[in-house]
Amino acid sequence: MDQFNDVDAVHRLLEVADELRNRKTTTNILSGKVVALAFLEPSTRTSCSFSAAAQRLGAGVISMNAQDSSVTKGETLADSMLCLASYADAIVLRHPRLGAAKEAAAAVSKPVINAGDGTGEHPTQALLDLYAIVHETQSRGKTFSESEKLNVTFLGDAKNGRTIHSLSKLLARVMAGKVVFRYVTPAAVDLRMPAELIEKLKAAGVEQTEHNEMSDDIIKATDVLYVTRVQKERFSDAASYEEAMKASFRVTAEVASKMKSDAIIMHPLPRVDEISTDVDSDPRCAYFKQMENGMYVRMALLATVLGALE
Ligand code: CP
Repeated sequence: MDQFNDVDAVHRLLEVADELRNRKTTTNILSGKVVALAFLEPSTRTSCSFSAAAQRLGAGVISMNAQDSSVTKGETLADSMLCLASYADAIVLRHPRLGAAKEAAAAVSKPVINAGDGTGEHPTQALLDLYAIVHETQSRGKTFSESEKLNVTFLGDAKNGRTIHSLSKLLARVMAGKVVFRYVTPAAVDLRMPAELIEKLKAAGVEQTEHNEMSDDIIKATDVLYVTRVQKERFSDAASYEEAMKASFRVTAEVASKMKSDAIIMHPLPRVDEISTDVDSDPRCAYFKQMENGMYVRMALLATVLGALE
C-alpha cells in the first residue's frame, strides 16, 4: 500500500472503476494481453474477480496454484515467476509468505500485483474497500464537516488480517488525518494490530485506540464497522484458534440495531461466524457490494498497469 502514495492517482483509479461499472459491458482494451494468476493460497473472490476482470477487458488468463504446479517439485517462487513472466504481461500473486509479492516483483520485469502476501498486505482489497466506503457514504447523502472525523472500527483479527493492514494505511493517506481508528480484538489471544503499524499510522496523524471488548459506546460511535475473520490458517495450534473464536464478538441484527442509521457494515469475506446472516438484509450491509465492485476496481487496476488507458 505504501506504493499508493499519490492520492490523486488513487482517486483516478476509482473513477475508472466507476466508468467501467457504469458501462455494464465488456470492452477489448486488453485484447492480445495475457494475465497470469498465481494463487498459491486459497481464494474465491480475489482469484475469480481478477480472472473475470481480465476477461471482461478482452485479455487472456493463465493460472497456476500450489497443489497442481511444479511448486510441489520444489520450484522456487522466483523461478515460477520467471516462467509466468515469459508467457504473460502481468502477474497477480497470492502467497502465504509475508513479502512474497515484493520478492516476486524483484525477480521479473513484468508488473506483479499483490493479491495477498501472508499476514502482510492485501492492497487491491483496500482499494475496493475504499471504493465501497466512498460509494456507500455518498449514497447515504452523508457529508463530513471540517471538524468531523470518520470513525472506523476494525473488529476481529488485526494481527493477521492483511486487509486491515492495507485499508488502515490507505484510509490514513486519503483521509489525511480525518479518521479515527478503533481496534476491537479478543483478549484471550493476542490478535492486536502490529505495534509498528500503529506507530506508522500515529505518525500519519491518525487517532487510534485499542479495545478487548465491543462496548455500546463504540457501536454507537462507529461510521464504518470493518469486520474480519479470525485467520485460522495463521495459527500454529488449534487450541489457540478455538480460544480466539470463543472470545470473538459476533455482529448480529441486534448489534446492528444500535448502530448509526447511516453506518456502513463491511467485511472482506469469507466470513465464518463473525457476522450472522440476519445482518445480510440490513441496508447498511455493504459486504456483498464490496465483493461485486472488487471486479471493477481490479479491471481499472489491470487496465492501468497494462497501459490501456494512456
Ligand atoms: N477478500 C478476499 O481476499 O477473499 P478471497 O480470500 O476469497 O480471495
